[in-house]
Amino acid sequence: MRSFGIPDDIQQYVVDHLDTDPIAAQLATATRERFGDLAGMNIGEDQGRFMQLLVEATGARTIVEVGTFTGMSALWLARGLPTDGRLICFDLVDTYLETAMEAWTAAGVADRIDMRIGPAADGLAQLPDEPHVDLAFLDADKGGYRTYLDLLLPRLTERGAILVDNVLWSGRILDADATDDNTVALRDFNDHVAGRDDCESVILTLGDGVTLIRPRRGHATPA
Ligand SMILES: C[S@@+](CC[C@H](N)C(=O)[O-])C[C@H]1O[C@@H](n2cnc3c(N)ncnc32)[C@H](O)[C@@H]1O
Repeated sequence: MRSFGIPDDIQQYVVDHLDTDPIAAQLATATRERFGDLAGMNIGEDQGRFMQLLVEATGARTIVEVGTFTGMSALWLARGLPTDGRLICFDLVDTYLETAMEAWTAAGVADRIDMRIGPAADGLAQLPDEPHVDLAFLDADKGGYRTYLDLLLPRLTERGAILVDNVLWSGRILDADATDDNTVALRDFNDHVAGRDDCESVILTLGDGVTLIRPRRGHATPA
């Protein structure tokens, strides 16, 4: 668990006050054992708990996730859903699915999760056109965020919202020497979101930076 830029003692205080979860801990361990440093892509437990609570507080019933990996964020999102709720997950590859399924099954949420393999832009475009998504979580290729946002906004329900991960990119967002594709894409995305007059948004300094986006009330969502 880590939140970028938060001093270690403050982070420890947060951990000490978190109701930790054995299944999430086991999934983090399995991910590290099987996929090494890629385990850093799992969201932290503080972010996971926040997302579960957000799902419960908003009463979300249909959630879309873009970028599932070994299923850590999906585990927390699915836990917040009612038993007849649905989490539609997109990932480019099925390499990590077995690990994810172990955790989802152990948590009793596997039957709420609809895993779809392939490019997320294609999968999102095939979702029904009408508003039916209560919450979306973006955590995949950073260059695709803008496309995913545009595909999801018209599909959001009245009270729907989108969470976007890694928007601070471990601080590289502010590093003038960082000109790699992901950093540039995230800078463009953050500026784009802040400049949209049809959306309200806030960057939370949670994890690696998480933006919460909602269509502005009284403003038609783009077709
Ligand atoms: C940061 S990881 C997701 C971590 C996950 N949310 C978690 O908390 O464990 C990003 C994932 O996005 C997937 N991905 C990358 N490009 C994609 C695309 N175009 N469409 C769908 N998934 C993609 C990768 O395969 C990878 O598993």
